[in-house]
Amino acid sequence: MTDQTPPDEDLIAAARAAAAQSYSPYSNFPVGAALRFADGGVVTGTNIENASYGLALCAETVAVALAMAQGRRGGLEAVAVTGPGDEPITPCGRCRQVLNELAQLGGTDPQVLCVGPDEVRRTTLSALLPDAFGPASLG
Ligand code: THU
Repeated sequence: MTDQTPPDEDLIAAARAAAAQSYSPYSNFPVGAALRFADGGVVTGTNIENASYGLALCAETVAVALAMAQGRRGGLEAVAVTGPGDEPITPCGRCRQVLNELAQLGGTDPQVLCVGPDEVRRTTLSALLPDAFGPASLG
Protein backbone atom coordinates (compact mmCIF):
# COMPACT_ATOMS: atom_id res chain seq x y z
CA MET A 1 0.00 0.00 0.00
CA THR A 2 1.21 3.47 -0.82
CA ASP A 3 0.01 6.71 0.74
CA GLN A 4 -2.18 7.10 -2.32
CA THR A 5 -3.79 3.69 -1.89
CA PRO A 6 -7.54 4.08 -1.39
CA PRO A 7 -8.77 2.38 1.79
CA ASP A 8 -11.09 -0.60 1.68
CA GLU A 9 -14.04 1.67 2.41
CA ASP A 10 -13.39 3.56 -0.82
CA LEU A 11 -13.05 0.31 -2.77
CA ILE A 12 -16.36 -0.89 -1.33
CA ALA A 13 -18.00 2.41 -2.23
CA ALA A 14 -16.62 2.11 -5.77
CA ALA A 15 -18.13 -1.38 -6.12
CA ARG A 16 -21.49 -0.13 -4.89
CA ALA A 17 -21.38 2.81 -7.29
CA ALA A 18 -20.56 0.44 -10.15
CA ALA A 19 -23.55 -1.75 -9.27
CA ALA A 20 -25.76 1.29 -9.70
CA GLN A 21 -24.73 1.31 -13.40
CA SER A 22 -25.69 -2.34 -13.93
CA TYR A 23 -27.58 -3.33 -17.05
CA SER A 24 -29.42 -6.36 -15.68
CA PRO A 25 -33.07 -6.13 -16.82
CA TYR A 26 -33.37 -9.92 -17.15
CA SER A 27 -32.06 -11.05 -13.79
CA ASN A 28 -32.70 -7.86 -11.84
CA PHE A 29 -29.50 -8.78 -10.05
CA PRO A 30 -27.16 -5.79 -10.24
CA VAL A 31 -23.54 -6.55 -9.36
CA GLY A 32 -20.62 -4.18 -8.94
CA ALA A 33 -16.93 -4.94 -8.81
CA ALA A 34 -13.95 -2.76 -8.02
CA LEU A 35 -10.29 -3.69 -8.51
CA ARG A 36 -7.52 -1.94 -6.59
CA PHE A 37 -4.00 -1.91 -7.98
CA ALA A 38 -0.62 -1.43 -6.35
CA ASP A 39 -0.33 2.10 -7.76
CA GLY A 40 -3.59 3.07 -6.04
CA GLY A 41 -5.63 2.93 -9.23
CA VAL A 42 -9.17 1.60 -9.06
CA VAL A 43 -11.02 0.08 -12.01
CA THR A 44 -14.69 -0.82 -11.73
CA GLY A 45 -17.12 -2.98 -13.66
CA THR A 46 -20.74 -3.97 -13.57
CA ASN A 47 -22.75 -6.80 -15.07
CA ILE A 48 -24.06 -6.28 -18.57
CA GLU A 49 -26.81 -8.61 -19.75
CA ASN A 50 -28.18 -9.37 -23.18
CA ALA A 51 -31.52 -10.36 -24.67
CA SER A 52 -29.68 -13.56 -25.55
CA TYR A 53 -29.48 -14.39 -21.84
CA GLY A 54 -26.42 -16.59 -21.91
CA LEU A 55 -24.27 -13.74 -23.15
CA ALA A 56 -24.35 -11.87 -19.85
CA LEU A 57 -21.05 -10.37 -18.78
CA CYS A 58 -20.26 -10.44 -15.07
CA ALA A 59 -19.13 -7.36 -13.20
CA GLU A 60 -15.72 -8.78 -12.28
CA THR A 61 -15.02 -9.86 -15.85
CA VAL A 62 -15.96 -6.41 -17.17
CA ALA A 63 -13.65 -4.81 -14.61
CA VAL A 64 -10.73 -7.06 -15.59
CA ALA A 65 -11.36 -6.39 -19.29
CA LEU A 66 -11.40 -2.64 -18.70
CA ALA A 67 -8.21 -2.79 -16.64
CA MET A 68 -6.40 -4.85 -19.24
CA ALA A 69 -7.65 -2.60 -22.03
CA GLN A 70 -6.00 0.24 -20.10
CA GLY A 71 -2.75 -1.68 -20.24
CA ARG A 72 -2.68 -3.21 -16.77
CA ARG A 73 -0.93 -6.55 -16.56
CA GLY A 74 -0.53 -7.03 -12.83
CA GLY A 75 -0.49 -5.24 -9.50
CA LEU A 76 -3.94 -6.50 -8.58
CA GLU A 77 -4.12 -6.17 -4.80
CA ALA A 78 -7.79 -6.24 -3.90
CA VAL A 79 -11.19 -6.93 -5.40
CA ALA A 80 -14.53 -5.85 -3.95
CA VAL A 81 -17.76 -7.38 -5.23
CA THR A 82 -21.30 -6.58 -4.23
CA GLY A 83 -24.75 -7.79 -5.22
CA PRO A 84 -28.31 -6.83 -4.33
CA GLY A 85 -29.17 -9.40 -1.68
CA ASP A 86 -28.97 -9.46 2.09
CA GLU A 87 -25.84 -11.60 2.02
CA PRO A 88 -22.44 -10.96 0.43
CA ILE A 89 -21.83 -12.73 -2.88
CA THR A 90 -18.60 -14.32 -4.03
CA PRO A 91 -17.28 -14.15 -7.61
CA CYS A 92 -18.63 -16.88 -9.87
CA GLY A 93 -16.28 -19.60 -11.08
CA ARG A 94 -15.60 -18.01 -14.45
CA CYS A 95 -14.79 -14.67 -12.83
CA ARG A 96 -12.38 -16.36 -10.42
CA GLN A 97 -10.50 -17.69 -13.41
CA VAL A 98 -10.58 -14.32 -15.20
CA LEU A 99 -9.32 -12.56 -12.07
CA ASN A 100 -6.61 -15.18 -11.71
CA GLU A 101 -5.17 -14.34 -15.12
CA LEU A 102 -4.46 -10.74 -14.10
CA ALA A 103 -3.36 -11.70 -10.60
CA GLN A 104 -0.94 -14.38 -11.77
CA LEU A 105 0.53 -12.10 -14.44
CA GLY A 106 1.63 -9.77 -11.64
CA GLY A 107 2.38 -12.46 -9.07
CA THR A 108 -0.18 -11.27 -6.54
CA ASP A 109 -2.85 -13.04 -4.51
CA PRO A 110 -5.49 -10.35 -4.20
CA GLN A 111 -7.74 -9.88 -1.22
CA VAL A 112 -11.39 -10.47 -2.15
CA LEU A 113 -13.94 -8.40 -0.27
CA CYS A 114 -17.42 -9.86 -0.55
CA VAL A 115 -19.64 -6.97 0.34
CA GLY A 116 -23.15 -7.25 1.73
CA PRO A 117 -25.34 -4.49 3.07
CA ASP A 118 -24.14 -4.96 6.64
CA GLU A 119 -21.12 -7.20 6.36
CA VAL A 120 -17.86 -7.60 4.46
CA ARG A 121 -16.45 -11.11 4.18
CA ARG A 122 -12.75 -11.15 3.43
CA THR A 123 -10.98 -13.92 1.63
CA THR A 124 -8.29 -14.29 -1.00
CA LEU A 125 -8.37 -15.31 -4.63
CA SER A 126 -6.17 -18.33 -3.89
CA ALA A 127 -8.70 -19.50 -1.29
CA LEU A 128 -11.53 -19.12 -3.81
CA LEU A 129 -9.55 -20.76 -6.62
CA PRO A 130 -6.97 -23.14 -5.18
CA ASP A 131 -4.42 -24.79 -7.47
CA ALA A 132 -5.41 -22.38 -10.22
CA PHE A 133 -4.56 -22.94 -13.86
CA GLY A 134 -2.99 -19.79 -15.25
CA PRO A 135 -0.37 -18.34 -17.56
CA ALA A 136 2.41 -19.97 -15.52
CA SER A 137 0.84 -23.38 -16.17
CA LEU A 138 1.56 -23.09 -19.88
CA GLY A 139 5.30 -23.15 -19.24
N1 THU B 1 -23.01 -11.95 -11.83
C1 THU B 1 -21.90 -11.16 -11.75
O1 THU B 1 -21.86 -10.05 -12.30
N2 THU B 1 -20.84 -11.62 -11.04
C2 THU B 1 -20.81 -12.81 -10.38
O2 THU B 1 -19.77 -13.19 -9.84
C3 THU B 1 -22.02 -13.62 -10.29
C4 THU B 1 -23.11 -13.25 -11.22
C5 THU B 1 -24.15 -11.46 -12.62
C6 THU B 1 -24.41 -12.24 -13.88
C7 THU B 1 -25.88 -11.96 -14.11
O3 THU B 1 -25.99 -10.74 -14.81
C8 THU B 1 -26.45 -11.77 -12.73
O4 THU B 1 -25.34 -11.58 -11.87
C9 THU B 1 -27.26 -12.95 -12.24
O5 THU B 1 -26.54 -14.13 -12.32
